Amino acid sequence: MELPYAEPYKIKMVESIKRSTKEQRLKWIKKAKYNLFNLDSEHVFIDLLTDSGTGAMSDKQWAEMMIGDESYAGSSSYKKLKKVVKNITGFKYFLPTHQGRAAENVLFSAMIKEGDIVPGNSHFDTTKGHIEFRKATAVDCTIDEAFDTSILHPFKGNIDLKKLEDVFQKYPKEQIPFVILTITCNSAGGQPVSVKNVKEVSNLCKQYGVPLYFDAARFAENAYFIKKREKGYENKTIKEIVKEVFSYGDGMTISAKKDGLVNMGGFIALNNKGIFKKATVFNIMFEGFITYGGMNGRDMGALAVGLNESTEFNYLESRVEQIAYLGKKLVEYGVPVQQPFGGHAIFLDANKFVPTIPREEYRAQALAIELYIVGGIRGVEIGTVLADRDPITRENRYPELELVRLAVPRRTYTNNHMDFIAVALKNIYDTRNEAKSGYKIIDEAPIMRHFTVQFEKI
Ligand code: F0G
Repeated sequence: MELPYAEPYKIKMVESIKRSTKEQRLKWIKKAKYNLFNLDSEHVFIDLLTDSGTGAMSDKQWAEMMIGDESYAGSSSYKKLKKVVKNITGFKYFLPTHQGRAAENVLFSAMIKEGDIVPGNSHFDTTKGHIEFRKATAVDCTIDEAFDTSILHPFKGNIDLKKLEDVFQKYPKEQIPFVILTITCNSAGGQPVSVKNVKEVSNLCKQYGVPLYFDAARFAENAYFIKKREKGYENKTIKEIVKEVFSYGDGMTISAKKDGLVNMGGFIALNNKGIFKKATVFNIMFEGFITYGGMNGRDMGALAVGLNESTEFNYLESRVEQIAYLGKKLVEYGVPVQQPFGGHAIFLDANKFVPTIPREEYRAQALAIELYIVGGIRGVEIGTVLADRDPITRENRYPELELVRLAVPRRTYTNNHMDFIAVALKNIYDTRNEAKSGYKIIDEAPIMRHFTVQFEKI
């Protein structure tokens, strides 16, 4: 008999999580105004709200925490991190920030002006938020296949070159500060971008004189998919693939809370000295001195180790295959999920799951709430609530997909937890036709409403 797969780690420390009753959860979610962000974490059994900053650090990372250098300037932890960033990304300059959106804030302050156009592949919401906050426009150039959850395209995060070229032809290059390529593409379902596509986008950018930047939050998972799916890369190491991908761009921002394997952190890395110098001023203003940028010395040390661990094949295999394990179970039960499965999450297709709930009543949000009520499992809506309103008309902009994201924290839950989630969803799916109505919004913020929005049951 062939030996089955097993995790390449053993558990050294555990954290208790509590089961609750359905009656308790009904009370808690009502009190939370049906916004899952408002729940107390102790009222959640399995927390799939995000894979951001929620993973488990290794013993080696914790060891590094103990020798963190907390000097204000020139700390040895900073130097360790700088060296690893250079080794892994190949970019010349580096600025630490406290998390991903902070990196966006700093870099975009140096690069984006009012009226600019920033093309990309389904920009993440903070990225889009930071673009729109500067009265610039994010243009989504993702391939059409990404918007059909049943098409089995291996690289659904890819940019459609025709769409990108149209943008380049419509606007002068002075109005396009850069293209941003998100690897993997979170908003398209944790879907990867191929090396071929990165290369083609890079060439097109060069042809039109526009720089290419990466939003690299899940760059290692992206490299794993390349190794598994792209011809010619099967024998390359993850670190080689990562280096090659970054070599086609001019720089990157990253939320290190994902593939940095830390609970907090981020950075900018880039090649252009002028932009680096400009960004440095904003970094000092918004984040902190350039050798810590809002991070503790110990956190920079742990990130240096984390970047090396997350670019190891064995770690990535257990990580990405755990997501696939959950995905396969759900497919077995007939539950509609985005395929192929993403690198950090499974996405439930609410348009197919609960078509009986009107879109105006936030069907994906309704499904996420039901999953909490049934299993104490917290996911997040990636649909109309997240897409928010049009900045000009202030009307809802209904995205093509209404999804519920089940993001799995790194090295945190076991496959028994995955089984539990799958059965909870099967039970909801079996009674899906009973769902007729959803929710209405009773309070919302002017921008990025999904964090604080309040609902009432219809
Ligand atoms: N870019 C991508 C692709 C992201 O997924 C995130 C965060 C950010 C930028 C911003 O980074 O949170 O460190 O400021 N995504 C989290 C998520 C919040 O749940 O997907 P941050």
